[in-house]
Amino acid sequence: QPSPEQQAFDALIAADARIEPRDWMPDAYRRTLVRQISQHAHSEIIGMQPEANWITRAPSLKRKAILMAKVQDEAGHGLYLYSAAQTLGTSREEMLDALHAGKARYSSIFNYPTPTWADMGAIGWLVDGAAICNQVPLCRASYGPYGRAMVRICKEESFHQRQGFEILLELSRGTAEQKQMAQDAVNRWYWPAIMMFGPPDDESPNSRQSMAWKIKRHSNDELRRRFVGMLVPQIEVLGLTLPDPGLHLDEESGQWEPGPIDWTEFHEVLAGRGPMNAERLRRRNQAHDDGAWVREAAAAYARKQTKRQAT
Ligand code: 3HC
Repeated sequence: QPSPEQQAFDALIAADARIEPRDWMPDAYRRTLVRQISQHAHSEIIGMQPEANWITRAPSLKRKAILMAKVQDEAGHGLYLYSAAQTLGTSREEMLDALHAGKARYSSIFNYPTPTWADMGAIGWLVDGAAICNQVPLCRASYGPYGRAMVRICKEESFHQRQGFEILLELSRGTAEQKQMAQDAVNRWYWPAIMMFGPPDDESPNSRQSMAWKIKRHSNDELRRRFVGMLVPQIEVLGLTLPDPGLHLDEESGQWEPGPIDWTEFHEVLAGRGPMNAERLRRRNQAHDDGAWVREAAAAYARKQTKRQAT
């Protein structure tokens, strides 16, 4: 016979109601939220690096301003998400220590290099496009602080996705070299972007429980199909091609299915052996150390303020 608290919790989930920080929740529910939200926050912070690589080399002031705004947005998304995770009782230091020690997961997608300016377009269009597919349903996640953080984040992601599409469109309508640069970037980012959605459903240990708790609303494969379905008409407008000869429309379901995915690459990246894993961690640790003086100054200032108010 479940406890009265468990019954109350189950009733809230069944009624599609929100679970708030002060509500009783099963330890496993709390743990999986800390896992997912902290990894999501880490992804946002690490995700600043591939794009920052082009801020000093953007082709125009307009592109530079847009790229800076986008990277700043990612930092903000990270802060909302760390704060949401902290409402579950974990501390910011604990999460950051795990990331800096290489013990925390973050999205596989950020372990790839950005060799040309066209990568800024492919990341905006494909990576932020995939993020929108994954994050819109998370606005309805059963845990209140997470779902609410997603609403704000999704609004900013749609700007990220549109500016990426516009970069690719401009390149694709430019010289033959520019069009080829855009095509090369799409070829490099398409497969890693569809791997962002996670392993296939039958190899996803967290999905069943996460969907029962209405954290995850759609399965990994469902969102992956939805994403590639969105790309098909857009790649037409871009006048480019997707590097997926196996991509086809499934007559029965009416949904677009990607060709076979190389999951070995996915597991290699998750094991820390992707092209840029070591560099991303090195840079993250360096940024954290470089920022120590800011944190100390802010803490000293806060202490002074508290003392002033107390007198
Ligand atoms: N990269 C790294 N790890 C991944 C992954 C990926 N793309 N996909 C799955 N994994 C990990 C999972 O974390 C899990 O490992 P864990 O149990 O140690 O945490 C394991 O692989 C099995 O995957 P599951 O499908 O069982 O795990 P989940 O149910 O957690 O589903 C997920 C994975 C769909 C990524 C889910 O965690 C999720 O929706 N997370 C929130 C969204 C998110 O993190 N997006 C990252 C994109 S970053 C971003 O959008 C920035 C934007 O501004 C560009």
